[in-house]
Amino acid sequence: MRDRARRAIAECRRIAELTEEPGRTTRRYLTGPTCQVHELLRQRMESLGMAVHVDAVGNLRGLWKPANSSGKRLLIGSHIDTVPDAGAFDGVLGVTLALEWVGISQELGLTLDMEIVAFSEEEGVRFNLPYIGSRAVAGNFDPAWLALKDEDGLTLESAIRSFGLDPAKIGEAAFDAGTIGYVEPHIEQGPVLEAENLSVAAVTAIVGQTRMSVRFTGHANHAGTTPMRLRHDALAGAAEWIAAVESLALRTDGLVATVGKIENEPNVGNVVSANSRVSLDVRHEDDPVRKSAVAALLEQAEAIAQRRGLIVEQKQLSEQAAAPMDARLTDFMGEAIGEAGLPVKRMTSGAGHDAIVMAARLPTAMLFVRSPGGISHHPAESVREEDVAASLEVARRFLEQLGREVG
Ligand code: HGY
Ligand code: MN
Ligand code: MN
Repeated sequence: MRDRARRAIAECRRIAELTEEPGRTTRRYLTGPTCQVHELLRQRMESLGMAVHVDAVGNLRGLWKPANSSGKRLLIGSHIDTVPDAGAFDGVLGVTLALEWVGISQELGLTLDMEIVAFSEEEGVRFNLPYIGSRAVAGNFDPAWLALKDEDGLTLESAIRSFGLDPAKIGEAAFDAGTIGYVEPHIEQGPVLEAENLSVAAVTAIVGQTRMSVRFTGHANHAGTTPMRLRHDALAGAAEWIAAVESLALRTDGLVATVGKIENEPNVGNVVSANSRVSLDVRHEDDPVRKSAVAALLEQAEAIAQRRGLIVEQKQLSEQAAAPMDARLTDFMGEAIGEAGLPVKRMTSGAGHDAIVMAARLPTAMLFVRSPGGISHHPAESVREEDVAASLEVARRFLEQLGREVG
């Protein structure tokens, strides 16, 4: 399995060079480098004897149907889009490992069809909507999203058409009726496995998340002549609220809340800010805790705006309920970890994944691989070859188990 692991890691590093921004890895939904990634993965899929196509939202799909096919299909993969200045392994490792899972299933002579999916949009960077690729495969695509615009004013529909795809065919992207489950291998993206010196873990659930945009509107004015007490400073109001977001999360067990993006106008040093728009990302494994935290934060925004003579507007961009993984498939994954001679670790994912969307429609399981330093969404993101090889030992046992069940 070390050779398979080495190849999967090397392919991640090659794909990381396919970027919108030379010198760092940035690959947003359906931007130019996506085609190059498709080309590289298509060659690998076809070398495994897979039939390959790109579906109408830009997911790359590969299908291996053994001669003795049972007609039952396992869907496996992850996403190939990235955040700006990303690492090489978030998402992409799940796809390069899926190629190895197919190779292992072929060696085992399984009757299971294997479909690889390289989801085109998981992060939600370009259109402020995560999971576009997996929502289409799950059959949950809302045509209203076609009108979403990116920061250049281009609609999702035009992005799809410029990629040579037909939005009218998005319905055809839904998973095949013979699909018995979805598995997503993924880096942990956090510090838990490293802290416990473990290579892999079975994921039991994915936390829920709320993503919002909150805009504070005040009055631009001269930075030199406007007395402090007469100001309606949008940026100062946003800053006070950002500190409140952090302090609420610090005192709420298990809650994470992040303001990662700010847009400020006119954004010049000698003008009191007119308006500031910030992002909000709130996550918790219990939905009621997450929802009440969001409500409390929006109340605080209102109170700050009131006191400062600002207007505050908020817009929910997306909400994803916490999702348990499939109990039976996750037990299989845990057993496979044990059979591979590894300590069986089960854990919740603080990061979102396409699996959270697929779990609503298909039995879904995830296999985590250790993230050295707990670093992710950063160029220093890495994996250890021995951990990736361990995950493939688990894969073999998982597939053998599934093969026995499918017959
Ligand atoms: O934001 C996330 O949790 C994931 O990386 N999309
Ligand atoms: Mn990510
Ligand atoms: Mn990811």
